[in-house]
Amino acid sequence: SVSLKGKHFLTLADFTKDEIMQIILDAIKLKDMQKKGETHHYLKGKTLAMIFEKLSTRTRVSFEVGMFQLGGHALFLGKDDLQMGRGETVEDTAKVLSRFVDGIMIRAYSHESVEQLANNSSVPVINGLTDDYHPCQVLADLMTLYEAKGSLEGKKLAYVGDGNNMAHSLMIGCAKLGVNCSIAAPKGYEPKQAIVKKAQEFANDTGAVIEVTNDPKAAANGADAVYTDVWTSMGWEAEQKERLKAFIDFQVNSGLMAEADPKAVFLHCLPAHRGEEVSSDVIDGPQSLVFEEAENRLHVQKALMVALMAD
Ligand code: CP
Ligand code: NVA
Repeated sequence: SVSLKGKHFLTLADFTKDEIMQIILDAIKLKDMQKKGETHHYLKGKTLAMIFEKLSTRTRVSFEVGMFQLGGHALFLGKDDLQMGRGETVEDTAKVLSRFVDGIMIRAYSHESVEQLANNSSVPVINGLTDDYHPCQVLADLMTLYEAKGSLEGKKLAYVGDGNNMAHSLMIGCAKLGVNCSIAAPKGYEPKQAIVKKAQEFANDTGAVIEVTNDPKAAANGADAVYTDVWTSMGWEAEQKERLKAFIDFQVNSGLMAEADPKAVFLHCLPAHRGEEVSSDVIDGPQSLVFEEAENRLHVQKALMVALMAD
């Protein structure tokens, strides 16, 4: 299994194709062990601190259960639980937590604050979502696609929706693993140019095609996976009304799925809003793998934590 000792996990940009692929393969092994009821206490006696500035269902539960299954312990620290909430600096928080725990998972608004935490932490920091990236989710997404299709290289993933954290991390993850990635976003909601450029640089090494369009049908054309995410992410609630209007033509429904490969799978990081970014018949239909994808958060994060934190 892969060792990432001494590293933080902030974005997939910092990892090689082999490292990312090895995390996915380790996750598949751990999934099998867990299903068979085999003990796998690779993090016995270790503690993970989990800091949440935003709400969470999957991330919180999968990390906490994952640490338990690995023989370790996880500590939930919500936004009202830390002195950081009343002005203790990120730097001091990192230095103090590093003395107590073996790893820190953080879900935050600003990606820069997570970088600051990592720069001051002597234990691995894992990004559990920022406004710009959601790399743990993409590990689970690529694992799910790999399990469904048997390979990743040369496959095509279409992402239809908001060009923010999910779009950014999917582009990078796909580029690294040689998966073609088409992003369709409404005008004004495209992914950040600097991140598109970075993904395209990684794609040069793997032959992946990374493209951005305003046309959902063009993105979905021939895709092996169609992916979407909420139109209003956490922190953007004030824009909800205008976003509903801007995204109206970007719903993933049976019409759009018909543009994709007939065997295409539907993916969504969840939580979902049926009738907005996805129709009920698609998310609850036979092509949807969203609950397998959610479950894979557990397995792939266990593999990640073992790689970062095991002795
Ligand atoms: N997909 C995901 O990260 O879900 P939560 O917000 O519930 O953690
Ligand atoms: N883009 C969403 C993802 C939630 C897992 C958000 O940031 O709220």
